[in-house]
Amino acid sequence: MPSPRKQIAEITPNLIREVADSGFGMTDVIPLWFGEGDRPTADYIKDAAVRALAENRVFYLPNSGLPDLRDAIREYTRRIYGLALRRERITVTASGMQGIMLVMQALIDPGDEVVVVTPAWPNLAGAARVMGGIVCEVPLSLRNDGWRLDVERVFDTCGEKTRAVCINSPSNPTGWVIDEGAGAALLDFCRRRGIWLICDDVYSRIVYERNRAPFLVCEADDEDRVISINSFSKTWSMTGWRLGWIVAPPELERALAILNEFNIAGPTSFVQHAGVAALNRGEADLPEMLASFHRCRDIAITRLSALPGVSVGWPDGAFYAFFRVEGLSDSLALAKRIVREAGVGLAPGAAFGAGGEGYLRACFATRPETLEKAMHRLEAFFAGINPTSTRQEERV
Ligand SMILES: Cc1ncc(COP(=O)(O)O)c(C=O)c1O
Repeated sequence: MPSPRKQIAEITPNLIREVADSGFGMTDVIPLWFGEGDRPTADYIKDAAVRALAENRVFYLPNSGLPDLRDAIREYTRRIYGLALRRERITVTASGMQGIMLVMQALIDPGDEVVVVTPAWPNLAGAARVMGGIVCEVPLSLRNDGWRLDVERVFDTCGEKTRAVCINSPSNPTGWVIDEGAGAALLDFCRRRGIWLICDDVYSRIVYERNRAPFLVCEADDEDRVISINSFSKTWSMTGWRLGWIVAPPELERALAILNEFNIAGPTSFVQHAGVAALNRGEADLPEMLASFHRCRDIAITRLSALPGVSVGWPDGAFYAFFRVEGLSDSLALAKRIVREAGVGLAPGAAFGAGGEGYLRACFATRPETLEKAMHRLEAFFAGINPTSTRQEERV
């Protein structure tokens, strides 16, 4: 039988896609399943891409990225985080996802253990598994004041074979944001043990009630094994453009460039020119976008928490409501049912690791009117039925 490598054959398909596929062809579904909103990319970013095309910037670029874009990323990091980076530390990637994959390709050998703080977006663990890594989950705990990480649990999970610890803060799906103390403790532990600390920072600018999330790479020296993965998708509304970057120790520059060559021979050239415009001009748009997310967060959390049997905490960052449904043991079945019967697309909690079953996730990065409509539909659904029943005849 023709078959792919064992690691690939064993990977669980993305359950969020499975829900979305179940709604394929349905015309009236409000899609809150994926991590993107309905806000189009700003005109000055699109214009920069059009200009680059008109100027025939359509040829191969260096594998580490367009020099102007690497410099714009350096300038952005200096401006926002006060961190002066050498150019060698920056690799441009075709998305945050590709950044994650490149990092796993660069670091993970088959049998290496990769510790992932969960519930987490599934692709971090998935990329480690593609490389033959063994994923060890450390669950966040849900307290009255929100999701918390017990760093001692991370330390206890790390053994001889641990090669990397992955954290995603602000987190998709929980909205958890690491605090400075936990970040410093993790960095200190990884430093002493020679373990890589991989930070998925794609939501680093999307925070509430504070200016910015702790950015662990700021606390690291050039030679520390700390990596930051970033993306244009969320902060600059560029999900479909596929553009991101990695900040890594300078010693990884060559490895990441080689891997970029063998994967895609570099991200799309005119898209990289658009990335320069996003970084140079995008800051002015951010307050309005964050204010809109803030408003949507209030709508989503207030209305979801009023549903019967539903509990949900206030996310400190990112743009997801991750809510628990009392008695729920098959979030995939319920998410499919909500698509069919309520016309709302949600992500099943089971997609986010062991601690995610029993939850559903709604992305609230939409227009407030759309979100209100989705909430109205969910209210009708939850009022009319026992949501944890998967059988039509058990409707009450
Ligand atoms: C936590 C996290 N990391 C990385 C990504 C990847 O983003 P992209 O590949 O669009 O840059 C996502 C996308 O949803 C995400 O939620």
